[in-house]
Amino acid sequence: MIEKINQTAQFIRSRVSGTIPETAIILGTGLGALVDHIDDKTYISYTEIPNFPVSTVEGHSGNLIFGRLGQTPVLAMQGRFHYYEGYDMKQVTFPVRVFKALGIKRLFVSNAAGGMNREFQVGDIMVITDHINLFPENPLRGRNYNELGPRFPAMTEAYSKQLCEAAFRYAEANGLRLMKGVYVGTPGPTFETPAEYEYFRIIGGDAVGMSTVPEVIVANHAGMEVFGVSVITDLGGKDITEVPTHEEVQLAAQAAQPRMMQLIKALVALR
Ligand code: HPA
Repeated sequence: MIEKINQTAQFIRSRVSGTIPETAIILGTGLGALVDHIDDKTYISYTEIPNFPVSTVEGHSGNLIFGRLGQTPVLAMQGRFHYYEGYDMKQVTFPVRVFKALGIKRLFVSNAAGGMNREFQVGDIMVITDHINLFPENPLRGRNYNELGPRFPAMTEAYSKQLCEAAFRYAEANGLRLMKGVYVGTPGPTFETPAEYEYFRIIGGDAVGMSTVPEVIVANHAGMEVFGVSVITDLGGKDITEVPTHEEVQLAAQAAQPRMMQLIKALVALR
């Protein structure tokens, strides 16, 4: 595993001139066009990268992109690997291991999610303050490599409090409607039944999606600072009868892109 991580990191380094950024951004469903805001881009297709799985789902292009977001050098992941595609947890989180090997210190993750919180509207942006892991397997199951992180990592502050607070300060100063909440990570690929949305709300969830939690666990294991944000693309609950579709999720996420970008751009510029 360590050898594979290093081999991949070395390949990526050989393809990028200049210094490697300290900030990486994983672009979720419908948010891949955020790369349009990145300047001086260098693309590396996942298909070229040794040991990288290849993304299969519609709406995920599959590129690593080096460039600048405003003044800040960033590494963006356009398209992620989902557990529901059939990848195992080590594959899903492999890019995060590689990021760490490259020297990335801060991970920004974005996703599309269904909202259970009754205050939420479609199109809202939710800062993830915490998560509930409902995947059937933890990405850290199995042998622990002490050089990668501790056997029993704390998840007390899986999402940087400092970055969450900065997000709300920015939102307030700029009149941006910004929600916050707990993200429930499920394996998918089914959307929830009305009873499941209700159950997730009762156990403390505000939004539910099929990604993010594995990457965030590994990023924390690796000692990275994490900021997570969801676009609420549909609403679910026991009295909600609208049927969510992948197309609707993509459209709602695309509509939120400018606001999402504005926020991420402001946050990456800190420090
Ligand atoms: N459930 C799970 N994943 C999702 C949803 C949802 O309602 N919307 C977008 N991703």
